[in-house]
Amino acid sequence: MKITIPALAPSILSADFGRLREEVAEVEANGADLIHVDIMDGHFVPNLTAGPALVRALRKGTNLNVHMMVTDPDCFIDEFADAGANGMTVHAETCSHLHRTIHAVQEAGMKTGVALNPATPINMVEEVLPFVDLLLIMSVNPGFGGQAFIASSLDKIRRASRAIKELHSEALLEVDGGLKIENTHAVVQAGADSIVAGSAIFSSQDYQKTIGDFHKKMGRE
Ligand code: DX5
Ligand code: ZN
Repeated sequence: MKITIPALAPSILSADFGRLREEVAEVEANGADLIHVDIMDGHFVPNLTAGPALVRALRKGTNLNVHMMVTDPDCFIDEFADAGANGMTVHAETCSHLHRTIHAVQEAGMKTGVALNPATPINMVEEVLPFVDLLLIMSVNPGFGGQAFIASSLDKIRRASRAIKELHSEALLEVDGGLKIENTHAVVQAGADSIVAGSAIFSSQDYQKTIGDFHKKMGRE
């Protein structure tokens, strides 16, 4: 599926789970490029969300990217691919054999992504950057929606953007956590190709207006 860059990826973590299909349809109708699905195992992060069944329920016509905040993502690659996930982002901190995991995600037919916690240096993924589809910089410590953007992330985004270019990688640079209309311009200026926003979108009253405002700050009409 083709997406416009910079892309907007609403995180459904802050959506109304009782009417998730409608929530997803509404943000898509108003210009969401892909849907960010946070998968948490209560182990890597102190929170629980959902598994492949949720992806299966939402898959129809939707570009779904699963953000795996789980200790052992390898166990779930095939299940999420079968369920209809279009892309899978794994945390570098959780993979002893990151190279193998990324190839397994690719072989399962999904776009590949690698995520870094705020405290994890970019050079941890240097070797895999040339062949991943996406690098996700966490701008909060993962586990919860609605946290404040960590200010030092801006400089990290700049450095990540530089690393992608220097390594001739075609990876998209995605940023997740604490993104609001107010800080989106700076994040895109720093080099982000994709903005994940949960509470800023789903806690707003008017998705059309909020997504429109995000698009403007991203330099899109
Ligand atoms: C945090 C998740 C994020 C979260 C973002 O662990 O990975 O995707 O939903 O939520 P906001 O946009 O509210 O910070
Ligand atoms: Zn996420």
